[in-house]
Amino acid sequence: MSKPTPKTRGRKPPRGSFVTFEGTEGAGKSTLIAAFADLLRSRGRETVTTREPGGSSVAEKIRAVILNEPMHPWTEAFLYEAARAEHLNQTIRPALERGAIVLCDRFTDSTLAYQGAARGLDWNTLRRLNDIATDGLKPKLTVFVDIDPGRGLRDAKDPNRFEAEGVAFQTKVRKGFLRAMREEPKRFVKVTARSGTPETMAAELLGKIGRRIGVEAKTGAKR
Ligand code: TMP
Repeated sequence: MSKPTPKTRGRKPPRGSFVTFEGTEGAGKSTLIAAFADLLRSRGRETVTTREPGGSSVAEKIRAVILNEPMHPWTEAFLYEAARAEHLNQTIRPALERGAIVLCDRFTDSTLAYQGAARGLDWNTLRRLNDIATDGLKPKLTVFVDIDPGRGLRDAKDPNRFEAEGVAFQTKVRKGFLRAMREEPKRFVKVTARSGTPETMAAELLGKIGRRIGVEAKTGAKR
């Protein structure tokens, strides 16, 4: 078991780079993450890919509950945060402490967009819950993969109960991501979904954020 949250609060930020990927359904985040991880590994960097909800044994069990059973919106919010606290302490923090680059499919901004903007829970309360669950650890960068919600839903694989809520719901989710982006513009990078092959999009992304995560964009160069 990892140490309880109060003991970690205020710890100095770990060495690695934490990058999250966000977007509405069907934006192709996981394909882009896989291609970007391959590229970073080819530059000699330890790269950990993970996802929310999930990414650790307990959190994956919580995922199975959240995605398959209807529940009260606050129950849902607390379960996402519970899964996040576990994932952060079991998987993300240890990897960052080793100096790895961690690429995470969804994180705290999904809570703001889905539970806040789309389900209507109070945005600032969710921000506070995010802060508690993460012990204040924020992503260095967040890549928002933007897609027209209607197109994304048509392309989405494995529909879950959020996808089943349709385009109006996804449109609210997208507005939530745009709000999160406006509130913290320095943390976000926006990319257009399916604007190239996964490999060309990964190379373009490295050009945009490489310097900030300590990886040179040019072939063969490493930090
Ligand atoms: P995905 O793995 O297909 O992205 O499914 C995860 C679903 O969970 C997706 O519909 C978004 C939703 N979600 C939230 O509603 N809040 C959250 O905090 C997170 C991480 C995901």
